[in-house]
Amino acid sequence: MKLIPFLLAASMLASPAIATELEVIHWWTSGGEAKSVDSLKSMFKKTGHTWKDSKIIGGGGANANKAIKQRVSSGNAPGVVQLKSTSLPQWGTLGALQDVDKAAANQGWDKILPKKVLESLKYNNKFVSAPVNVHRINWMWMSKKVLDKSGAKVPTSIPELFSTLDKIKKAGFTPIAHGGQPWQDATLFEEILLGVGGADLYNKVLVDLDSSAAKSPKMLEVFKTLRKISTYLPKDRKGLDWDKATKLIIDNKAGMQFMGDWAKGEFMTKNLVPGKDFICAPAPGTDKAFIYTIDAFAFFKTKGDKAVAAQNKLAETIMTKEFQNEFNKRKGSIPVRTDMDMSGFDSCAKQSADTFRSSDKSNTLVPSFAHGNAQSSDVQGPIVEIVSVFINSNMSPKEGVAKLADTLEEFE
Ligand code: BGC
Repeated sequence: MKLIPFLLAASMLASPAIATELEVIHWWTSGGEAKSVDSLKSMFKKTGHTWKDSKIIGGGGANANKAIKQRVSSGNAPGVVQLKSTSLPQWGTLGALQDVDKAAANQGWDKILPKKVLESLKYNNKFVSAPVNVHRINWMWMSKKVLDKSGAKVPTSIPELFSTLDKIKKAGFTPIAHGGQPWQDATLFEEILLGVGGADLYNKVLVDLDSSAAKSPKMLEVFKTLRKISTYLPKDRKGLDWDKATKLIIDNKAGMQFMGDWAKGEFMTKNLVPGKDFICAPAPGTDKAFIYTIDAFAFFKTKGDKAVAAQNKLAETIMTKEFQNEFNKRKGSIPVRTDMDMSGFDSCAKQSADTFRSSDKSNTLVPSFAHGNAQSSDVQGPIVEIVSVFINSNMSPKEGVAKLADTLEEFE
């Protein structure tokens, strides 16, 4: 082949008809998160388009959500936004979302994604969002060294939890690593609610917003357990980021952290091995259940139609097996595609994938309230606030129950 036509052909392969810059707002800024999003950036760049990175610091995404509101209301929406499913209608009703039906049809998303997930990606029956993963929230992350030095074992029930915490405390370590931000309190709350009350109570309270279930004796037990747990939290936690709390486990200064499996992404950046250097175990009483959150990128209409081809390319990149494999190994989550080979994943991810499937069959697969898969932000906000005030004050469990039930009544 002559050189010029060859070069021409090669450059046509690498660059699309119109190379476009796509601005992407996301909140992945911790060590493990940044490494994960890098894999998406570089795979997307291979399609010939460019990625304009707009990262907004703040675990759980509350700051990013504020930024999006500003950008959309000033008529300057970015093309892509990291967004949880319950936020889609808010933007859909404003006509702000762009569909990527072309990508979904090209790759047959209907055949490779779980039913529950498919519905959460649509607005008005059109795919407006592409999912990257499934995170499991109901985990404890533990330092193997701290457990061994304290003569403590991995707790599988609430009474065992307290005996482990006492041993860790007695040995001079911080029992629970926990950051002081409302979303982290809400994460702890939903793990304990599931462990004490089961999936049924979890769904009644956090999904159906049933105020009579919130007043039940079981719910009082949840608040009593939380109150007791709060006495093991570090006193100097106010404002502490979640990844700084994970670092206390990595450095063998604290015993355990209740957190979703993005925490594993932090252990991975230090090449630590589950089972050997750290332990992942389901939060007490939740081994057969699964609180899920799904990270997804939603597509927004931008000025002119220039971005649509690039948006479809990004959606397709996200759904490739290659991306789902590389990204999720870094992020700590599991692939959202149902047809992936899990053999190269670590033991925590394999356990997560098994429980994701089995919990769906036994109706113990529940959406995360703290991470935006159960309620829209206007409902989520006031409940998170009650939980966080409860954990960080001397409010009695009875009062906590009453406040929660009152708030649920407002939404019924
Ligand atoms: C997201 C994770 C993220 C975590 C901490 C969660 O809501 O699903 O992807 O790592 O927040 O920022």
